[in-house]
Amino acid sequence: MATMRSDAIIGNTLLKVRDLKTHFFTEDGVVKAVDGVDFDVKRGEIFGLVGESGCGKSVTALSIMRLIEKPGKTVEGEIIFDGNSIRDLSEQDMMDMRGSRISMIFQQPQSSLNPVFTIGGQVAEVLQMHKFMDKEESWERAVDLLARMGIADAEIKAKAYPHELSGGQAQRVMIAMALAMVPDMLIADEPTNALDVTIQAQILDLLRDMKEKMETSIIVITHDLGVIAEMVDRVAVMYAGRIVEQTDVAALFAEPHHPYTIGLMASVPVLGRVNDHLAVIPGSVPNLINLPPGCRFAPRCRARVEHELKICNEVEPELQAIKLGHTVRCWLYHNHGDHQAPMKVE
Ligand SMILES: Nc1ncnc2c1ncn2[C@@H]1O[C@H](COP(=O)(O)OP(=O)(O)O)[C@@H](O)[C@H]1O
Ligand code: SF4
Ligand SMILES: [Mg+2]
Repeated sequence: MATMRSDAIIGNTLLKVRDLKTHFFTEDGVVKAVDGVDFDVKRGEIFGLVGESGCGKSVTALSIMRLIEKPGKTVEGEIIFDGNSIRDLSEQDMMDMRGSRISMIFQQPQSSLNPVFTIGGQVAEVLQMHKFMDKEESWERAVDLLARMGIADAEIKAKAYPHELSGGQAQRVMIAMALAMVPDMLIADEPTNALDVTIQAQILDLLRDMKEKMETSIIVITHDLGVIAEMVDRVAVMYAGRIVEQTDVAALFAEPHHPYTIGLMASVPVLGRVNDHLAVIPGSVPNLINLPPGCRFAPRCRARVEHELKICNEVEPELQAIKLGHTVRCWLYHNHGDHQAPMKVE
C-alpha cells in the first residue's frame, strides 16, 4: 500500500482530520453538510461525535471511509490515517484499507448484511479473506466469535440468514465481522439507536471490550449524550456542519461551555425515557444551503439575546482553546470590540 508519511503524525495520533469539507451539489444549491471539521483520534481511545440529527456526523464518517456518493464530494481538507493521506490513496488501496484497517458499523445492521448468505458464512468469509484461514477453520472461528458476542446457540444461529435475526443480534454479527478483521479503527454510527436499552448496554460493553482487548480506536457517532457519558474518552459536539466544542468527556459533563452543548445537556435522557432535545432547544438546525451569516447557532441562542451580542449575527467565531485540550466556538469566550470575554451562560 502506498504510504505518505506526514510530519504532523506525532505521538499516538492514529487519525487526523483537518478542515474537512464535504458538500452535496444538489439542484436546490450546495448543501454544506460538513464544512471545516478538525479532530484527532488517538490510538486505543474512544472518540465521540455528538449532535442532533442532520448536523453532519454520518457525512463526516463516510468522508473518512471515502464512501461519499454523488452529488456529494469531499472538496477540501486532510484525512491522515496512520501516515496515509486517505484522500490521495488509489481506489484499490482504499479498498484494502477499508477491508483490513478501518471498519464501520451502521445504524441499520440488517441492511449492511448480505441477505443471501448465512451470518456464519459472512463472518467466515472475512476470516478467509483477511486471516487466510481455510473454510473449516474460518467456520469454527466464526461460530466462536458469534458465541463471544453473546449469541446464544451460536452453532445453530451461524446457519441463520440476516432476516431471521433481531436488531440486537444483527448488530452483534456486525461487531463480530469487525472483530474478525482486527481493525486499527472502528467507526460505529449510531450503533445502538434501533435497540432497546438492555441490548444497547450490552452492545456498548462489547465495543468497550474490543477497545480494551485489541486496542482498537473507536469513533462513536450518536445523537445521545447518554451513550457519550457511558463509553467515550474525548468528544466533539457538532452543529450544522461544524464542531462547536471539543474536550474530554469528564470536562464536557462537568462544565459544558457552548450554549448548544448546554442545551443538549439539559435534555440528557434518563434511562428509558424518550429523548426530546428539540423541546429544550427551540428552533431547528439551519438549512445547510443558506446558512445564516455569523454563528450558525445564533437563531436559537438565548445567551446571545441575554448578553445582547451583535457580533454573533455578523462574524462566525473560531474554534478556540479556553484551556488545554478544551476548545469552544462561541463569542462568549472570545474577546471582541463589543464585549469582554468570558461571559456567563445562565
Ligand atoms: N445524498 C445527500 N444529498 C443531499 N444532502 C445530503 C445527502 N446526504 C446527507 N445530506 C445532508 O447532509 C447533512 C448532514 O447529514 P448527516 O451527516 O447524515 O447528519 P447526521 O448523521 O448528523 O444526522 C443533512 O443536512 C443532510 O440532509
Ligand atoms: S457565538 Fe453567540 S450566538 Fe453563537 S453560540 Fe455563542 S453566544 Fe450563541
Ligand atoms: Mg447520521
